[in-house]
Amino acid sequence: MSGEGKEMEVERRAELGGGSPLWAGPGRGLVIPGYRRDHELVDPPHDWPGYRGTILRHPKRPLLAIPNTVGEITGPLLGEERVGELDFDLTAGHAGEPQGQKIVLHGRVTDGNGRPVPDTLVEIWQANAAGRYWHKVDTHPAPLDPNFTGAGRCMTDADGRYRFITIRPGSYPWENHFNAWRPAHIHFSLFGRAFTQRLVTQMYFPHDPLFAYDPIFNSVRDPRDRERLICEFDLQATTPEWAMGFRYDIVLRGREATPFEEGHR
Ligand SMILES: [Fe+2]
Repeated sequence: MSGEGKEMEVERRAELGGGSPLWAGPGRGLVIPGYRRDHELVDPPHDWPGYRGTILRHPKRPLLAIPNTVGEITGPLLGEERVGELDFDLTAGHAGEPQGQKIVLHGRVTDGNGRPVPDTLVEIWQANAAGRYWHKVDTHPAPLDPNFTGAGRCMTDADGRYRFITIRPGSYPWENHFNAWRPAHIHFSLFGRAFTQRLVTQMYFPHDPLFAYDPIFNSVRDPRDRERLICEFDLQATTPEWAMGFRYDIVLRGREATPFEEGHR
């Protein structure tokens, strides 16, 4: 294929699914692995009137779809050597035990095709049991806990599983509207295996009475998608006299059939 022809083929396939041009061998041409797109309602809109912060910061023009290149279908490999042995335990590393209900929070990270996402960095951050962040901009007059800073991280194992020990965070007020309180939540950040799988989200606890009043929770428009933001109580992960267990499974965008699989059907 001529240089120009190759370029056109890249463009044509990029239009079909996006992805990086990969040379798959003689006679195969260029094969571009694509990522399945989420359905259009799954993420909150950038402009959500109930959530005041979006008014100024949302893009004012329609977004452009940019075809994936190798820069997007790969990502940084954040190896285990960067994660400390106790980073998964937010109740450790201080002089004493933090206040609050200790919990085990675990789950499995898979891609859109149900395959585990191994060796990927999972980071969390959260308020303490009284609903106060260890951060200078949090001026909510709830007590800080000298034994809880509220940030942790771990790597998924070969089966995509992760596990944290932490405390159940409290609800906290915010100034979005009169008498606004956030449902208790834990922030999650995942890198996945590629930039296209990057996910930053918030996990909630079952049956929170604040769900109905929270514009951030309700900016996810489909109730079924909102359900996927809520962890479930897990009796098996609950440890007698010590900690309640919760399970939260996470699905990242999945790669469609790769050239390797295509060749082995
Ligand atoms: Fe928060």
